[in-house]
Amino acid sequence: MLSKADNEFLTQSDAGTPMGALLRRFWMPALLSAELPERDGPPKKIKVLGEDLLAFRDTNGKVGIVEPHCPHRGANLFHGRNEDCGLRCVYHGWKFDVDGNCVDLPTAPPESTYRDTIKLLAYPAREWADLIWVYMGPKDNVPELPQIELGLVPAANRYVTKKWQDCNWVQSLEGGIDTSHFSFLHKVIATGADELRAAMSKAALADQSTPDDRIRWVQNDPRPRFQVLGHDVGLVIGGGRKTDGPELYWRIAQFLMPNIAYTPAALPGEIYYGQCWVPVDDESCWIYSYCWQPERPLSNAERTKFDGGFNVHSEVDADYMPLRNRRNGYLIDRATQKHSTFTGITGVSEQDAAIQDSQGPIQDRTKEHLGPTDIGIVEFRKLIVGAARALARGEEPKAPRLPKRYAVRSGGCITSPDKDLAAVMTERFGHPQGYIGDKYGLGPTTMDSDNPRA
Ligand code: FES
Ligand SMILES: [Fe+2]
Repeated sequence: MLSKADNEFLTQSDAGTPMGALLRRFWMPALLSAELPERDGPPKKIKVLGEDLLAFRDTNGKVGIVEPHCPHRGANLFHGRNEDCGLRCVYHGWKFDVDGNCVDLPTAPPESTYRDTIKLLAYPAREWADLIWVYMGPKDNVPELPQIELGLVPAANRYVTKKWQDCNWVQSLEGGIDTSHFSFLHKVIATGADELRAAMSKAALADQSTPDDRIRWVQNDPRPRFQVLGHDVGLVIGGGRKTDGPELYWRIAQFLMPNIAYTPAALPGEIYYGQCWVPVDDESCWIYSYCWQPERPLSNAERTKFDGGFNVHSEVDADYMPLRNRRNGYLIDRATQKHSTFTGITGVSEQDAAIQDSQGPIQDRTKEHLGPTDIGIVEFRKLIVGAARALARGEEPKAPRLPKRYAVRSGGCITSPDKDLAAVMTERFGHPQGYIGDKYGLGPTTMDSDNPRA
């Protein structure tokens, strides 16, 4: 439970708020590379952290992310002409490059130096891992991009998409790191063996080695044994459940500052999934969802495994709006809910979206009652609120300065019950916090820190 003031502190990300200041210390996905497919193509309106912006790809393929209003008299550059390495305002012809420099000011005499005094606000933008990233913090302090594994694997080994979410980014992220809800929200309740098999195959789990067992263990044990480990750039959140034998089935998620989470299911050789929540404003966000396979290219089927799939992708329209959404009640089917799935909503991602939206545009955390399975959420709040409070005191967060330490994995592990989370992580990934950067030439690291919660 949080006070009203603390809930506002946690969830508000506009410019001028403490959490907004913290988020602006990190690179954020601003859009998919695929959303700006052509050089000199149409500019695209975007909104990030409450700021309306414009993204465009210039003649050389470089991407600019700029304030949309022309510094002359405020016309919106969305109507502009994207031509010859710049965006030209169609009102009086002023033209700006991707860095916001005014490169042509045809209404001033040729000898005038007025143009040199004109600047359009432009944020640093980079393209990596099929995403266009923006940095909206102090320009004298631009960090390197976080080296998430998605960007380290060959392009053929990854798939990146996004979906709209009708609620505050924090409660949606909290749903992502809350691995205990899997025992309920995503439950298959078909009773007969044939029905169960059919429901599971619909859940597209046929590619996993023992999916039936794992699903059953998750569904049969609603009180996983939770442990959380801090590291330099986030948290490892593990929940161990009973199996048929003496072993525990661990599902282990990663939270990476300030807005990335990895799902907990992948066993060795399977596909890894991650999500990144980027606030549009305080009551909506984009969820960038992605998957990657370190060892081989993804098949087309794996890239587009939407319907009922046990993965993080939603079925979306051409604007990345989920087809099953708040406006159509997520197409809930009460007969399906009665007889075969816990929610009656098709799609794991849609089940998550429905329930996260239902908490309200911004969850009122003054009324919540947390319990032992919410430990990951408690640690996440402590970490991010602590970092925002420290920044407000003048202490810069250190995670943006440690980009290599974002090279981590999370996933599942079936192992003996006497191991703690660090030992399970070491068994599964060869490192207590899941660091795999050494496989990509990023060097070894201990991930230790004088303040493991920083
Ligand atoms: S308003 Fe843009 S050039 Fe005049
Ligand atoms: Fe979920």
